[in-house]
Amino acid sequence: MQNAQPEAAEVRYLDPPPQPRLRERDVERTTTFITVASEKGAEHAKAQGWTSEDDLTQLIASISWYHTLELPGGIVTPGQFDHRPVLPRYGLPADMAGKRSLDVATFDGFWAFEMERRGADVTAIDLDDLRELDFPTLTRPFVDRITTLPPIGQGFDVAHRALGSSVQRRHSSVYRLDPDEHGLFDFVHCGDLLLHLRDPLTALERIRSVTSGTFLLSDVVELDNRHGMFGPHVQYLGGWSDVVWWVPSLDALCQMVSDAGFRNIKVNAVYTLAKTYDPGGFWRASITAHA
Ligand SMILES: C[S@@+](CC[C@H](N)C(=O)[O-])C[C@H]1O[C@@H](n2cnc3c(N)ncnc32)[C@H](O)[C@@H]1O
Repeated sequence: MQNAQPEAAEVRYLDPPPQPRLRERDVERTTTFITVASEKGAEHAKAQGWTSEDDLTQLIASISWYHTLELPGGIVTPGQFDHRPVLPRYGLPADMAGKRSLDVATFDGFWAFEMERRGADVTAIDLDDLRELDFPTLTRPFVDRITTLPPIGQGFDVAHRALGSSVQRRHSSVYRLDPDEHGLFDFVHCGDLLLHLRDPLTALERIRSVTSGTFLLSDVVELDNRHGMFGPHVQYLGGWSDVVWWVPSLDALCQMVSDAGFRNIKVNAVYTLAKTYDPGGFWRASITAHA
């Protein structure tokens, strides 16, 4: 006698099956933004008239600045971003005396120097070479071939000397933050980094591992799609434009911070910050959380 066959479960298909809508990607455009950014910085420096005989001024003119920094002698660096107007609502404590603090992805050091000015004992980390960034796999061979890139910490070093700063800059990827190596910090700041990472959650977990007190995060958020800033959505861009991989909703960004192990998450401000020589720009949120 034949065994009774179980009745096949009903399966439903979408017909025709949906196909991914992949965008054509332009490898050259993706990899040239770094040189374009440097040229624009140099042009901007020239337009500002940074050409006096003074050594520091000449040095400043030779660098493509990310941050607008106020240096002694009334010198202001021609930064791609001027964060000074954001400071009052950003969430940085007025008095940071005695706080062991960390600035993740410091670039020219605006936030590290600002924390030091408020009394903190500051360590700053960043990469040294743009080739270390999380480029999409297909662009990697092209990026590796670029031989004329200025080091990332160039502006930081000049500002550090000009300010007589005690901030300690260490070469480290956020992915390598480790309490055994870096210790624990009372205050950790991380600005505009997650958008550039292939793995933002791992980065947040590494940051959480070295945070014993407060975490201040600022990053881009999506306000313009049909869902607005609320809800769990994340726009995936894949790192093809300015190494920007993700634009999360405000809810999604806060959820990621929570999923990395932080508590008491509070939004300090949602703001736009235009580039100095390239107006327009993402919405950003500044968020405070606790270990
Ligand atoms: C858009 S800038 C942000 C600068 C600064 N944190 C701010 O908020 O103004 C991005 C910075 O992230 C750094 N970066 C990119 N990938 C990194 C990584 N894996 N670990 C540490 N820093 C990284 C870049 O070198 C650059 O300094």
